[in-house]
Amino acid sequence: MHVELYERIWMWAAGGLLLLFLGAIFLTVGLQAIQPPSHIETVDPTALATHPEFGKPGVTTRADGSVVVSVVAQTFSFSPDPIEVPANRPVTFRLTSADVIHGFEVVGTNANAMAVPGYVSQFTVTFKQPGEYLIGCHEYCGTLHHNMVGKLIVKKESQ
Ligand code: CUA
Repeated sequence: MHVELYERIWMWAAGGLLLLFLGAIFLTVGLQAIQPPSHIETVDPTALATHPEFGKPGVTTRADGSVVVSVVAQTFSFSPDPIEVPANRPVTFRLTSADVIHGFEVVGTNANAMAVPGYVSQFTVTFKQPGEYLIGCHEYCGTLHHNMVGKLIVKKESQ
């Protein structure tokens, strides 16, 4: 079969790109243990009420000044709400769901993860801009999904 020279070049280029991207995925997964911020730590979704952390979801400050926010998503709200965190400090969000899959997105920032029942999704962000942010659920979770919103208040540091 005769294949035009340019066509052959593009076929090899496309194949090469595929290998490059696949290689990049397997390299980072294998060597740097990079994985999605979920499905690592498990939690019993039926016993969240008595869980030491998620039984009382809220904001805690560690000794080093970093902030941890434990969030439980449930149809159709987030706990706690509102969430209040300081600006310019690393904030680690730890999310889980009490029922179905929800989303957690702080609109206008790169804070964005899924809240999956049975798992803890964790990520850390630093909010530079004080103000009020909308938190939205971005996974369809039921008839009132569009009403599932929360508020994040980023406060200016007082020092
Ligand atoms: Cu929760 Cu959509």
